[in-house]
Amino acid sequence: MTAQKLYIRTFGCQMNEYDSDKMADVLNASDGLVQTDDPAAADVILFNTCSVREKAQEKVFSDLGRVKHLKQSNPDVLIGVGGCVASQEGAAIVARAPYVDVVFGPQTLHRLPELIRARRASGRPQVDISFPEIEKFDHLPLPRVTSASASVSIMEGCSKYCSFCVVPYTRGDEFSRPLDDVLVEVADLANQGIKEVTLLGQNVNAYRAGDDDFASLLEYVAAIPGVERIRYTTSHPKEFTQRLIDVYGRLPKLVDHLHLPVQSGSDRVLARMKRGYSVIEYKSIVRRLRKVRPNISMSTDFIVGFPGESEDDFEQTIRLIQDVQFDASFSFVYSRRPGTPAADFDDETPQATKLARLARLQAAIEVNAGRLADAMVGTTQRVLVEGSSRNGLKGNSGELMGRTENNRIVNFAGAARARELVGQMIDVRVTQALHYTLRGELLEHAPILTVCDEQPFGATKCAQ
Ligand code: SAM
Ligand code: F3S
Repeated sequence: MTAQKLYIRTFGCQMNEYDSDKMADVLNASDGLVQTDDPAAADVILFNTCSVREKAQEKVFSDLGRVKHLKQSNPDVLIGVGGCVASQEGAAIVARAPYVDVVFGPQTLHRLPELIRARRASGRPQVDISFPEIEKFDHLPLPRVTSASASVSIMEGCSKYCSFCVVPYTRGDEFSRPLDDVLVEVADLANQGIKEVTLLGQNVNAYRAGDDDFASLLEYVAAIPGVERIRYTTSHPKEFTQRLIDVYGRLPKLVDHLHLPVQSGSDRVLARMKRGYSVIEYKSIVRRLRKVRPNISMSTDFIVGFPGESEDDFEQTIRLIQDVQFDASFSFVYSRRPGTPAADFDDETPQATKLARLARLQAAIEVNAGRLADAMVGTTQRVLVEGSSRNGLKGNSGELMGRTENNRIVNFAGAARARELVGQMIDVRVTQALHYTLRGELLEHAPILTVCDEQPFGATKCAQ
């Protein structure tokens, strides 16, 4: 019998990408489902949705409409909706799209096999959007390693209640996974050969486990053999403690890059957003970090055109971009989210003005990004080799690509050594800064390892 196929469409953030992987793991472990990129070939179709902005939310319903016919031609096809829209809308999704079979939230994705079975047995749509908190992690299979880097969720939910944001309502309040569980998962991944781990959560620095906080968690993770690089996302400026900054002085495995959402450069706007910090407090974090890590690169999130944002508020945001030298950002025009406090604020700025501000903001970031890329030319960078470069995949460059600590992609000649180098940390010299990527050359002292056929990402374990 051929295995049943699973198609997952993911919207939104890295947490959702992570959750989609877990959905695939759970259904593979319970029913042997294998993933496909083709919805028409799938037995189970899942949408993992995002409701942070209106556009993403509406897209779900248009995409659902697009797979409806698959169910009409094969009634056995099962359609499920998970993620934040599911969490917010619940049974209303089935009311609007009656061909949906299963609705589940970010904290009930581990119950998918039961929900699907119940749907098939009863013939009735199943909805479970409860928040059973930590139960999820006790029911997820151990992660499978498919590359040299992996993400590990350390905490879920958010209790910050920024005035514009739906996440606390869709993902529930903050809760941390037990320390032992996190460390066992990272150690297991390292044993399978991963080199880089990304610790995930809406506010990772809200992590607490007894007397341990996020700073101590980082120290424990860095001590796990095989872990060579540590990233995390997202942290919040409000809990960015001196203890956490001090860890940067002690742990070289912690990358020279930090994504720290600021949202606005105006204290007035930050207060109305209920962010819980001022611009000077944010800048103080960056100044103290750069004292211990002079080269740390900073990226951030901005919301442009928050209700009541004046031209002067926006100018202050542009000034902050220059002061901090952010070199990347996720920046979007404010999207009104019903049910959040900001939804009731007067919002008189025309959309065209907001879009013009967004374009100006993004141009300011591009200037910084270009300056940083130029400054990297001539330097030696340690990169984690991820695979063929994008051009290489089209078959015309034969190059490999690796990622630097500060999240830049470097393409370099070396395809002939792909089996030996993919999944390894190697040194390259940056030779050229292009628009979005860097070009480099492999340094001759890059390690030559014995390749282990069974474990391509654990090659060092097979080195002689
Ligand atoms: N934990 C993070 C932090 O410290 O702010 C943010 C997580 S939030 C899901 C991701 C980003 O979505 C936010 O940083 C914000 O820029 C954006 N976002 C959230 N609500 C939004 C809204 N109503 N309109 C536009 N962007 C929004
Ligand atoms: Fe949203 Fe603010 Fe939490 S942006 S995820 S409520 S920190």
